[in-house]
Formats: sequence, structure tokens, C-alpha cells
Amino acid sequence: VLLGAGNVATHLFRAFSETEKVEVVQVYNRSKTTLKPFETLVETTTSIEDLVEAEVYLIAVKDDAVEEIVDQVKNKNALIVHTSGSVPLFSSAKRNGVFYPLQTFSKNAEVNFKEIPICLETSAEEDFVILKNLAESISEKVFSISSEQRKKLHLAAVFACNFTNHLYTIAETICQENQVPFEVLSALIKVTAQKATLYSPKEVQTGPALRNDQKTIQQHLEQITDADETKIYKLLTQSIIDYHGKKL
Ligand SMILES: NC(=O)c1ccc[n+]([C@@H]2O[C@H](COP(=O)([O-])OP(=O)(O)OC[C@H]3O[C@@H](n4cnc5c(N)ncnc54)[C@H](OP(=O)(O)O)[C@@H]3O)[C@@H](O)[C@H]2O)c1
Repeated sequence: VLLGAGNVATHLFRAFSETEKVEVVQVYNRSKTTLKPFETLVETTTSIEDLVEAEVYLIAVKDDAVEEIVDQVKNKNALIVHTSGSVPLFSSAKRNGVFYPLQTFSKNAEVNFKEIPICLETSAEEDFVILKNLAESISEKVFSISSEQRKKLHLAAVFACNFTNHLYTIAETICQENQVPFEVLSALIKVTAQKATLYSPKEVQTGPALRNDQKTIQQHLEQITDADETKIYKLLTQSIIDYHGKKL
């Protein structure tokens, strides 16, 4: 049973639908509107009392609501699992685990689940086997990751993905304000990400901060009008200079 109907639940449902090894018997979500796309595909419910029996209850709701949902299903004689990178393993459920797919999911952006690392953790060893089978039915990259490691991984992922994406947003705004198609930056964005994975990111750092090109840095700062963007530019510039051992 899948609990939640957001980005992660949607992609998990699609992935499980493509394998014969796993059957999603029901999808629960608190609101009917978000459940709508599932209605023709699987049994759905908005009532947690109406959950059907299953071997695994996979909770993919927002982080702050996970504990509340776990509390409502904790007495089931089944494996209770959540998909969060930052929520701990809940010992309140008799059998519990974590099924954290490390990727950025948006409902309408396609993903290839086979390539997505799934980080698993369970309290009991025998439950790990169940979760591993479940994960391997949709992904070729399954890892055993402890809560402590997952917390650090999530932190790393925020730097690698969420912050980087916010910087893309700033870049897009600068392009839009100057009538330059954002597409012109596409190749740069792709190669930057590719190089960071093929090499160590510190080895492929480029730009005025690395070279300590002060005139260029000052010229950039003069062009920024937003106070937050000025702070971000200065902080990242200084961080690159400090990391690579040069003085401003
Ligand atoms: N998105 C990602 O890239 C990603 C990647 C890996 C892991 N995760 C983890 O996966 C989980 C789900 O993330 P998501 O991106 O799929 O979230 P999402 O798209 O924002 O969907 C949130 C889901 O949580 C439900 N929800 C919100 N508040 C609730 C409450 N108080 N009680 C019950 N249900 C509630 C929503 O129901 P309504 O439709 O009724 O609001 C919806 O089904 C989170 O733990 C997240 O950390 C996310």
C-alpha cells in the first residue's frame, strides 16, 4: 500500500506498475483531489481506517506528516516504511524501515527508476531482505544506509541539488531580464554536472573566484541589484577563494 499521492508516490507507483514482482494494492491520500490520477489505476482511499492488508506500507507524505501517519498504521503486522531522507527510523512501529530514493522528483518530469539509488534501512535483518527485494524490483542501485549516514547524505543532496537549482533560477532570471534565451546556458549546466560526477568537483572548479580575478568580481557585484543575490555572490566567491587557498 502506498500512502501519499505526491511527487515520490506518483513515480513509485509508475515504477512498481512496470514490474510484475510487486503489486500496489491500494493508494491512500488524505485529500481526494491529489488521488484523482490514481483512481482509474488502483483502489484508492482517503480514509486510513480503510487501508487493506499488505506486506509493506510505503509512506511518501511530507516529512512533517510521516510520524503522524506511522502512528496510525504502527499496529499493523506489516513492514512500515517511509521515503524521507531526513526523518529517522521509527521504532514505534513493530517492523519499520526506510526506503529513500535519492533523486529529485517532480510529478511530470520523467525518471528512469533503474538508475535511481535507493537507500534502505530496517530495524530487523529479515525485513531488510523484503525491502531489498522491493527496491531491486525497480532499481539497479540499492544501498544499505544507516540513519546517521542518510542524514548526512540528505544534507549533501541539498547542497548538490536544491541550492544548485536555486542558483540556476537566479541565472534564468538574469537571462530573462536581459532577453537572452536561458537555453544558451543549457550546455554549460549539463557539462558542469557531468564533470562533477566524472571527476572530483574540486578538480574542475573554474571561474573568476578560483582565478581571484578581482576586476571581474567587482564588475559582477556592480551589476547585481538584489541584496540577497549580492550576499550569495560574495559568500560563494569567498568560499571558493578560501577553499582553494587564495586570499582576497
Ligand atoms: N520530491 C523529492 O524529490 C523527494 C526525493 C526523495 C524523497 N522525498 C521524500 O518523499 C516524501 C514525499 O515527498 P514529495 O516530494 O512526494 O511530497 P509532495 O509531492 O509535496 O506530496 C506530499 C504528500 O504528503 C501529503 N501530506 C501533506 N501533509 C500531510 C498531512 N498532514 N497528513 C497526511 N498527508 C499529508 C500530501 O497530501 P495532499 O495531496 O492531501 O496534500 C501529499 O500526498 C517526503 O518525505 C520527502 O522528503 C522527496
